[in-house]
Amino acid sequence: MSSHSAPKTPAAQRLRIHHLHQKVVSGQKISMLTAYDALTAPLFEAAGVDMLLVGDSLGNVMLGFDSTLPVSLENMVAATGAVARSTQRPLVVADLPFGSFEQSVEQAFASAAQLLKAGAQAVKIEGGEERAHLVRFLVDNGIPVMGHLGYTPQAENTLGGPRLQGKGQHGDRLLSDAAALQEAGAFSVVLEMVPASLAARVTEQLDVFTIGIGAGPSCDGQVLVWSDMAGMTSWSPSFAKRFGELGEALKNAARQYVEETGAGTFPGQAHWREN
Ligand code: KIV
Repeated sequence: MSSHSAPKTPAAQRLRIHHLHQKVVSGQKISMLTAYDALTAPLFEAAGVDMLLVGDSLGNVMLGFDSTLPVSLENMVAATGAVARSTQRPLVVADLPFGSFEQSVEQAFASAAQLLKAGAQAVKIEGGEERAHLVRFLVDNGIPVMGHLGYTPQAENTLGGPRLQGKGQHGDRLLSDAAALQEAGAFSVVLEMVPASLAARVTEQLDVFTIGIGAGPSCDGQVLVWSDMAGMTSWSPSFAKRFGELGEALKNAARQYVEETGAGTFPGQAHWREN
């Protein structure tokens, strides 16, 4: 008997990087959403999302921090486990959080290995050429890496906050960073808040696929922070279309619950039993 586990049904098979590459080659776009828990991740899977990003935006969205900097590796491992355990098909990518990878290839590998053990298929690293040696080491040791260029929130203090990156002659630097990440073995590059024309040039230049956020329509796919996409909060960035107004819907449901509880109309007869 083979030592391999029995093959799963096609519907239950995790997408792999080559499936996504094939999707792009056949002219289709890739959809990616952030996910941080076992409640929402299966909903995004059911909607057909290709990739789930356990982003360190977890810090802002779920943990009440005002940046991604305080997010710990332990936070990321817990969220990655929840997303991986509750889904079967989307490719799960987890962010290496600030302070968990920058010092050495050994530190990067130890952190990335924890995320893969928690269920991620790949990790994402913010930064360009200066990260290429880390990308190469991880890829050489079995850990697929997604790059992240443009506005990189972990560098918000050096970048001066969220603003368009790669304008004018700075575009050339971003192009060479993208080339360096690909050369180092990255399977994809996220482009955040860069001019649409520059994102188009990077996408054209690279063999690996690009995923845009605030980077125009020419990328091979798009990613959004799910709470922005679903309208969970009153404010969302201008590049994030609100595909729903779930925050209002949730508030209304809670308000009705409070009212009915106060009025004594909940629980009604359908909600209790004697035996
Ligand atoms: O952490 C995150 O959500 C991200 C996306 C904005 C790309 O890195």
